Amino acid sequence: GRVAVLMGGNSSEREVSLDSGRNVLAALQAQGVEAFAVDGIPALVEAIRAGGVDRVFNILHGGDGENGVLQGLLQAMDVPYTGPGVLGSALTLDKIRTKQVWIAAGLPTARFVRIPPGGDLAAAVRELGLPVFVKPSTEGSSVGVFRIAEESDLAPAVAFAADYAGELLAEQMLTGGEFTVGVLGDTALPSVRIVPAGDWYDYHAKYVADDTQYICPGLDGEDEDAIRALALAGFRAAGCDGWGRVDIMRHGDGRLMLMEVNTAPGMTSHSLVPKAAAQIGIDFPTVCWRVLESSLE
Ligand code: DAL
Ligand code: MG
Repeated sequence: GRVAVLMGGNSSEREVSLDSGRNVLAALQAQGVEAFAVDGIPALVEAIRAGGVDRVFNILHGGDGENGVLQGLLQAMDVPYTGPGVLGSALTLDKIRTKQVWIAAGLPTARFVRIPPGGDLAAAVRELGLPVFVKPSTEGSSVGVFRIAEESDLAPAVAFAADYAGELLAEQMLTGGEFTVGVLGDTALPSVRIVPAGDWYDYHAKYVADDTQYICPGLDGEDEDAIRALALAGFRAAGCDGWGRVDIMRHGDGRLMLMEVNTAPGMTSHSLVPKAAAQIGIDFPTVCWRVLESSLE
């Protein structure tokens, strides 16, 4: 049937989503799938009403693409779609509440303090102790993320917070390395260790620079088994299935901590699910095909 590749939209990750979407579209078309691009949810609703959509490949990053709104809409319209359902999507777009669920499930996650709109960011940061990250609870691609290593780094974060309407969190910064694990159906892909050339893995390091190093698998032997198992446990505990990507950081002493879940992970040429899949011989078109096959009915 006809597959709408949903991309673009109006979140802060629009450009990343268009990039991911074009790659997915080309890969599906190359395999003979009757796929076409749709930019944003209103255009998708029109296409569905016109009777032209049998299935949706959702690659709309952030906002209504990843927060349960799209998923509820498609469920109500009886159109199958890729990625987790309403609950998993709504929960995991909210980093604070995802961490609360992991804590309740006995799963490890970095210490954090919630900063409500208008809350005292500096006090939250001091409560945790430096260094910390401060970030919006509901954005992606490191948009609005501040790394605070010393008191003088506070000012830009405070200025951002003054204009930002949503919740923020201050989160303990871990020094043992940054990892991510893709999930395809019931399988955790090999972990990827991310070694940015600069201080941390920001938007520029993610999508623009070519100097970030990616090591895959990111760990060896039992440690690699443990990180994949943790990723799957974190994904499931957050109500997710289908496909996604779980970000994990490591303490200096080696303990692994869940950071967040992405339910429409990037599929750009810089993105990590395709890199991890390639490591075990699954090429990009096959990743797209598997994701499509795992669509929720
Ligand atoms: N939020 C971006 C697209 C990612 O996780 O890959
Ligand atoms: Mg994210």
